[in-house]
Amino acid sequence: MTMEKAKDYAELSEMAAARIISKLSTKPDSVLGLATGSTPEGMYEALIKAYKERNVSFAEAVTFNLDEYVGLESNDENSYAYYMNKKLFSHIDISPENAHLPNGKSDDLDAACADYERMIENAGGIDLQVIGIGLNGHIGFNEPHTPFEQRTHIVELDETTRNANARFFADLDSVPKHAITMGIQNIMESKELLLLVAGEQKASVLERLVYGDKTEAFPASIIKDHPNVTIIADQGALSGLKAADYQTGD
Ligand code: PGA
Repeated sequence: MTMEKAKDYAELSEMAAARIISKLSTKPDSVLGLATGSTPEGMYEALIKAYKERNVSFAEAVTFNLDEYVGLESNDENSYAYYMNKKLFSHIDISPENAHLPNGKSDDLDAACADYERMIENAGGIDLQVIGIGLNGHIGFNEPHTPFEQRTHIVELDETTRNANARFFADLDSVPKHAITMGIQNIMESKELLLLVAGEQKASVLERLVYGDKTEAFPASIIKDHPNVTIIADQGALSGLKAADYQTGD
């Protein structure tokens, strides 16, 4: 596990975008695993800028998002499909048929999970998966006590997660109670993992990830077993760690 320090959120976003740009320059048809939430927003802005400056193309790229709420239309402002279109896809040259999210509107959610698995497999697996980490240690929507071997599945969202995400909705009651998420096993099968952690509110979570034991009570703890993980964290998120435990990037 490699840790890289960004001095602030802007630098974290640039560093994360640089990883994706570099991946696409060596393998233009890379399969990218993408995440939503607040943390990757700056990375998407940096990618759009790089695309406009002709420093990257997504023409051959294939993407799979980690998760999607159950029950929201793709044009619902709170769906992750809407988020991805607004924050990235509509600004770049990705083919719409290559940009995938789980289908949370399916009449048969189990089939939607199986379809998603099959599509990832048919694409040859994920080359680089971007993830964030929740305040309860979740990755994707894999909440505490999700079995590590779980694959794409339907989850009942934890109250911590619903509360954290309520900021995007009119009120807490409007936050969906269920989502489809890639499982921890899918995340672990990606060839490379990039975890982004920003802000002081994530300091204790990052501290637990780095110094704590592997346990299903804290889903992110599994990533220490992944052979190719980079964590990019800003100063606030790193405030609970010993300086010797991360690179300064200087
Ligand atoms: P955030 O979410 O980027 O909005 O903090 C991360 C997560 O919950 O995985």
